[in-house]
Amino acid sequence: MSTSVGATGEVAEVRAAARIRGEIRLPGDKSVSHRALLLAALAAGESRITGAGDGADVRSSAGIVRALGATVERAASDGRTVDYRVDSPGADGLAEPAAVLDCGNSGTSLRLFAGMLAGLPMRSVLDGDGSLRRRPVARIIEPLRSMGAVLHARRNDSLPPLTVVGRTPLRPIDYATPVPSAQVKSAVLLAGLRADGSTTVREAVATRDHTERMLRARGVAVARDDRPDHVAWTIEGGRSVRATSERVPGDASAAAFWLVAGAIHPDAELTLRGVGVNPTRRAIVDLLRAMGAHIDELPLTDSPDDGVGEPLADLVVRSSALEAIELGANEVAAAIDEIPILCLAATRARGTTVIRGAGELRHKESDRIAGIAAGLNALGARVEVEGDDLRIHGGRRLIGATTDSRDDHRLAMTFAIAGLIADGATRVGRPASAGISYPGFFDELERIRA
Ligand code: S3P
Repeated sequence: MSTSVGATGEVAEVRAAARIRGEIRLPGDKSVSHRALLLAALAAGESRITGAGDGADVRSSAGIVRALGATVERAASDGRTVDYRVDSPGADGLAEPAAVLDCGNSGTSLRLFAGMLAGLPMRSVLDGDGSLRRRPVARIIEPLRSMGAVLHARRNDSLPPLTVVGRTPLRPIDYATPVPSAQVKSAVLLAGLRADGSTTVREAVATRDHTERMLRARGVAVARDDRPDHVAWTIEGGRSVRATSERVPGDASAAAFWLVAGAIHPDAELTLRGVGVNPTRRAIVDLLRAMGAHIDELPLTDSPDDGVGEPLADLVVRSSALEAIELGANEVAAAIDEIPILCLAATRARGTTVIRGAGELRHKESDRIAGIAAGLNALGARVEVEGDDLRIHGGRRLIGATTDSRDDHRLAMTFAIAGLIADGATRVGRPASAGISYPGFFDELERIRA
């Protein structure tokens, strides 16, 4: 990559690669890293977190834990991952923060800490950058209020900043999530920890279950009940979270960029080490395979799926001939963060890929439906948007052009990967956003050019 600073701000230029090869170690999983920090704040004593993601979002969560009175030490960092040592007085010893809690760009920090703070007897304000201030919070205000916490937000309780006045104990609830969202589910379960009775969250589609697994690993029982039309999760209130040591898996959502790069590039072989392949996170691997991607999966035998820890695998991807696929709302929910890069794969597939019911993508770090269509169409793809549905006509040659990440990390990385296969040079506007979840992404992109 060469970067240049033009009139419109920083731009990264990515040139087509003749060949891509290499072995890649990923940043630590962002979702698991946030939760490890939050749970370390709730647990009295010392928690160790090895291999956390070192992107800006996880740093926001570390800052919040510090602001609540725990000691957070960065023990070691290689620029991509970081080891943390957290020493906390535990849930009942945390202090009311003296300043606004800065979530930066991180929706996960905002929603999960709101759930935790709802059950602590203190007043706090959660805020963040311009993108975060456009993200919906009514979805957490509603259940947390019904548990007895007081929450207020801007624009008629719809947008951050979010004020939380917590209370202990909260009332337990039985709650069906109106949209598939692991953040909403996690917020309610974390509040449920501080309720006097058992709290149940029901979801029509099983979203990522890291919170549930990580609570179990810290001595808190979380029951799963698979019903014909939904999954119910139940947590007993009043249990304390035990301090523990945890190694964070490689981020499956970060791996997705390389899986697509390897599959769509005509001369590629990439090996991804230690990727988290939790059944609620691995949808992208299975969707790409359904499109015809050659992905070998070598499970790491010291990480069996016991519903407590996270199963890991090495993944090897090779150049593939892809076919179009159709996705409905359930598949979109299962691969929510991977839809942008999946759209790039679809531009190289034979046939028309249809993605239905993707409306949640409009509420991410940017309106990803609009951003992905604009960027891929600028590169010569044919992406049509109809309401919340996307139609991607495959097989067209991509030609280097200027794209805009809209300060959205997943769009920046999608357009950069497109640059590996597009003719000539692809310019990615506002590339630094990649550092939200993937510090060192552009260095890795250059390193794999064989
Ligand atoms: C996340 C859940 C997802 C995802 C986000 C991380 C989490 O959001 O998009 O990047 O860690 O729980 P929603 O649950 O709101 O869809």
